[in-house]
Amino acid sequence: MTVATDLFDRQLRDLRVSVTDRCNFRCTYCMPKEVFGPGYEFLPRDQLLTFEEITSVVGHFVARGVKKVRITGGEPLLRKGIEDLIGLIANVDGVEDLTLTTNASLLARKSRALADAGLDRVTVSLDAMDDETFQRMNDVGFPVATVLEAIDIAAEAGLGPIKVNAVIKREVNEHAVVDMARHFRGTGHIVRFIEYMDVGNSNGWRLDDVVSADQILESINAEFALEAIPPNYPGEVANRFRYLDGEGEVGVIASVTKPFCGSCTRARISAEGTMYTCLFASSGTSLRDVIRSGGDLGATIDEVWGKRDDRYSEIRSSNTARLSVPVEMSYIGG
Ligand code: GTP
Ligand code: 5AD
Ligand code: SF4
Ligand code: SF4
Repeated sequence: MTVATDLFDRQLRDLRVSVTDRCNFRCTYCMPKEVFGPGYEFLPRDQLLTFEEITSVVGHFVARGVKKVRITGGEPLLRKGIEDLIGLIANVDGVEDLTLTTNASLLARKSRALADAGLDRVTVSLDAMDDETFQRMNDVGFPVATVLEAIDIAAEAGLGPIKVNAVIKREVNEHAVVDMARHFRGTGHIVRFIEYMDVGNSNGWRLDDVVSADQILESINAEFALEAIPPNYPGEVANRFRYLDGEGEVGVIASVTKPFCGSCTRARISAEGTMYTCLFASSGTSLRDVIRSGGDLGATIDEVWGKRDDRYSEIRSSNTARLSVPVEMSYIGG
């Protein structure tokens, strides 16, 4: 195995694979209905990478240093036969951590098959503990109780410890911070609060809408005392904190106020097989074209990663103006 490094000497370690651009939620910060309405054209089936193609791509990335693979969407559990894909990827030698990010709407019925196929764990997106707020945010009337039930079922199936990701938006779900901390303390599940990002073109992002990680931690700490703990591995996206009373930990992902581009080891593949070297990239390289024309996939990946100089979040911090027109979060998978 050779470890690929980019122009800033960052190694290629994590691969995030989107398996569909569709989602059954319409979270207002990600797929607002005004943009993703009934007339929206999602990718046609034949444009998606097949399971065999995805597995081959994963193999080439693992040969270049990738150890963690995360399956994303859209909503990845909407992809038919997803457990078969998990089985194929789990069998690739060198994949040490195989995970999936889901809105949990289909997780209760899929947990067993996913765990049996070799999925190590899941991360669940949930933005509030009260139905009024959660339903206003998912915008399809999906209830909190179904997500909570799915989290328990997934944990029973062995897909834990489960991480629960909450995007916090000013005046929308700020109150969810303490609600969620309180609910998940002592359960063994780990809540991570994410600063609302200016990703995509649809969500009308404003800096005023961001609740900073420091503010989030302050409101939890006022209720349940916290202390910082070291990362699980170098370059971990979330900053970790433990409850002083031993009831577990929380994380904050400060992509806006404390960007972490310097240790960013992530490559992303869209559902149609385009490789992006940054969440905020406006263009990528089609690995699907390389595969389907019989080209050299490994050499293409080496070339793209070798030229990588992305550090969008760091640059944006010093200059809040838009630098490029990024792809949508639901397309690139977060
Ligand atoms: P673990 O391995 O479980 O710790 O997962 P993770 O923290 O690598 O990934 P997860 O997918 O849970 O990331 C949570 C959120 O952090 C994403 O949905 C994004 O909002 C944000 N995030 C993750 N990676 C990046 C990144 O490379 N850049 C930026 N700006 N944000 C990121
Ligand atoms: N800012 C931060 N996180 C976001 N996500 C989607 N859109 C945004 C945004 N604008 C997160 C979701 C989910 C993951 C796929 O991406 O909450 O956890
Ligand atoms: Fe779907 Fe996740 Fe986007 Fe919500 S944040 S619309 S659940 S992909
Ligand atoms: Fe990595 Fe781009 Fe996110 Fe920076 S903004 S951490 S380079 S994905």
